[in-house]
Amino acid sequence: MEISNDLGMNSIFSDRITDVPKSFIREILKVAVDPSVISFAGGLPNRELFPVEEIKQASIRVLEEHGRDALQYSKTEGYQELRKYISQRYVDKHNLDIPVENILITHGSQQGLDLVGKILLNKMDAVVIEEPGYLGAIQAFSVYRAAFNPVPVSEEGMDIGRLQTIMSTKAPKLIYAVPNFQNPSGISYSEANRRAVADLVRDSNTLLIEDDPYGDLRFEGVEKTSFKRLIPENTVMLGSFSKTVVPSFRLGWIVAPDNIMEKLIIAKQAADLHTNNFVQCVIYRYIKDNEFDEHIRKIISVYSSQRNAMIESIRQYFPPGIRHTSPEGGMFLWVTLPQHMSSMKLFERAIIDKVAFVPGYPFYINRKDVNTLRLNYSCVDEGTIKIGIKRLGQAIREQLAA
Ligand SMILES: Cc1ncc(COP(=O)(O)O)c(C=O)c1O
Repeated sequence: MEISNDLGMNSIFSDRITDVPKSFIREILKVAVDPSVISFAGGLPNRELFPVEEIKQASIRVLEEHGRDALQYSKTEGYQELRKYISQRYVDKHNLDIPVENILITHGSQQGLDLVGKILLNKMDAVVIEEPGYLGAIQAFSVYRAAFNPVPVSEEGMDIGRLQTIMSTKAPKLIYAVPNFQNPSGISYSEANRRAVADLVRDSNTLLIEDDPYGDLRFEGVEKTSFKRLIPENTVMLGSFSKTVVPSFRLGWIVAPDNIMEKLIIAKQAADLHTNNFVQCVIYRYIKDNEFDEHIRKIISVYSSQRNAMIESIRQYFPPGIRHTSPEGGMFLWVTLPQHMSSMKLFERAIIDKVAFVPGYPFYINRKDVNTLRLNYSCVDEGTIKIGIKRLGQAIREQLAA
């Protein structure tokens, strides 16, 4: 029997799922899979950099050395050795003291967003979201029927005036922030901006989610102070192995203060008992048996060359007056077209010329059309980037002329 959305009476579906936006990017990717299309639309890490052989060796070692334990049910909190490794890495790389008990392993950082939403949000609770913001977060909090309050982000970070107004009038439960190489814009918050945001959140009942899946992929510039250091009691940090090892393992983690962690563990238990134990053991083995930092440096080298190729091509082929961000790391760059130009119309034009990107509007709350767009540079080689950006430049010129 096919279950219909409309049974002639009340819908069988819950209120919580009815309003959740479908992922527009998935729809776009359907068009972009045509191999003759040069796609800057995806958000995927570069598959050529996946450590396939090393993961094969790590899997064999896990199965040979403690296969039965690795294949058994396990603790909700996660594989202890992996949690200890993450804790030590925070000390070594970021000078942050995060006890193992404050780390929960999740099925990707995306599950972290869901669990935080689950333990905190009631219907119509105020949530601050970046504008433009990460679609996966908009989707995750929509399930809990959040009332979104967008705060524009620029090359400096969050619009402090807007945040201040929302803090004083809406008392938001959550602020969602991607302060390093943000998806979709590639921007990073400046040191001063982080401190201004922290000053507004400190001593409030608002929790700030510091989502940091790209932080390790820095090409240039210096690391800025984490919210976890500035406002530790108000910060929940999310991490991920998706961009530094492989995304298919769905491995991430949450760092949270004790009182929040207690509830997260209950929610995680209710959701799936624990994260896939075997892949936790494999990733740990992979990291221990290989030069993990060397691998990250390789990713940085490839992505930074591709970012440079994209920026050089934009300067060469786009008409004057078109703005773009210059990310210091990560996988995305954000383009602002002339004010009244529709990026959706440009998409329709560009796809005929066999080049794809993501029009900006799904990254905003309640906007139908905008003059911005996202370009991904992690998956396209330098030569192809040049050809694709040249085609896009031509499409922009034609759109401007029309
Ligand atoms: C900002 C941001 N947060 C979270 C995620 C989800 O990552 P994961 O694969 O760890 O679930 C992504 C993935 O693209 C992302 O861009």
